[in-house]
Amino acid sequence: VSKQSHRKDEHVSLAIKFYDEKSHAGFDHLRFIHQGIPEISLNEVSLESYIDKIDLDFPFYIEAMTGGSEYTKKLNQSLAKIAEETGIAMATGSQSVALKDSTLSDSFSIVRETNPNGTIFSNIGASVDVKNAQKAVDMMDSNALEIHINTPQEIIMPEGDREFNWINNIKEINQNLNVPVIVKEVGFGMSAETIQLLIDNGVKNINISGKGGTNFSKIENYRRKEQELDYLSDWGQTTVESLLETKKAHVSDDITIIASGGIRTPLDAAKAISLGADAVGIAAPILYSLIKNGEDETVRFINDFKDGLINIMTMLGCRSISELKKIKMIADPYLQNYINQRNIPY
Ligand code: FNR
Repeated sequence: VSKQSHRKDEHVSLAIKFYDEKSHAGFDHLRFIHQGIPEISLNEVSLESYIDKIDLDFPFYIEAMTGGSEYTKKLNQSLAKIAEETGIAMATGSQSVALKDSTLSDSFSIVRETNPNGTIFSNIGASVDVKNAQKAVDMMDSNALEIHINTPQEIIMPEGDREFNWINNIKEINQNLNVPVIVKEVGFGMSAETIQLLIDNGVKNINISGKGGTNFSKIENYRRKEQELDYLSDWGQTTVESLLETKKAHVSDDITIIASGGIRTPLDAAKAISLGADAVGIAAPILYSLIKNGEDETVRFINDFKDGLINIMTMLGCRSISELKKIKMIADPYLQNYINQRNIPY
């Protein structure tokens, strides 16, 4: 097994080891206002949403995790089956390894083979050039490309990148690819400044992937022999804080905001949407369910998640995702303090 493939397997086993079914992404600091007479029936609620030009039947999808080894090929195949059966979209883990070693391509292309008509997102690191970015998309005939930004993870990885001049490359990929491009964090969140920089460079789709779910500073620190960078384990903005940060940037109607990081329940997802997300990505809970409980249980988990969202939208009187996006919540004093110090218009 190559070093790269071994790392991919380690990410899976450590994400499962550290998995916490409770979210720490800040959703507990917000609550909806109950409406006693919502004047709506359950079957009027539509979960349809979109990312850029891509229609989604459901506003949540399987976020980027696996591929790049024999074991993660099997996981990708299972995730693709689950995505097909539930009709939700799916991203794969970073294909950067397969761009360097083509014998690993089949651990990604299996996703398109398994789910020929599904909505599939490619994933690469921000230093991959335009030509290879297009190759990653072609490998799975993908509907969109996620470019991940992950400075803390690289810094903590002994073998990680040490150069982070990314914006011109991101701009070039975004201009030259034949599918929509999403720029995504990996669980450290985004600031208004980062979001604005991306928008100013033409990026239309932003996944703020915040702190509070899978924690890559913990995972990479555990992979070090001496776990001496433990003091970085709380680095970043939570998913809720990052969504609030989008309100300080100039996010026009043609920009798609996606939330991930610590989305654990339909209530978390509903709150993320009400904070402005058009869709949410769920990573570790789906992987955990697949590994611990199998494919059928994971299909059930996803279908229950859809029902849960419909229930909440019904209680709030929202017939569509765009109506849910307009609902205002109440912040507790802790979160209000963040909102005040960052001058966020919420
Ligand atoms: C990830 N994540 C990730 N993200 C990415 O852009 N490229 C990648 O290759 C990976 N790899 C990866 C492996 C594993 C095992 C996990 C659990 C996660 C990050 C993921 O897409 C997401 O941003 C975070 O995991 C936060 O979401 P959850 O896990 O809290 O729902």
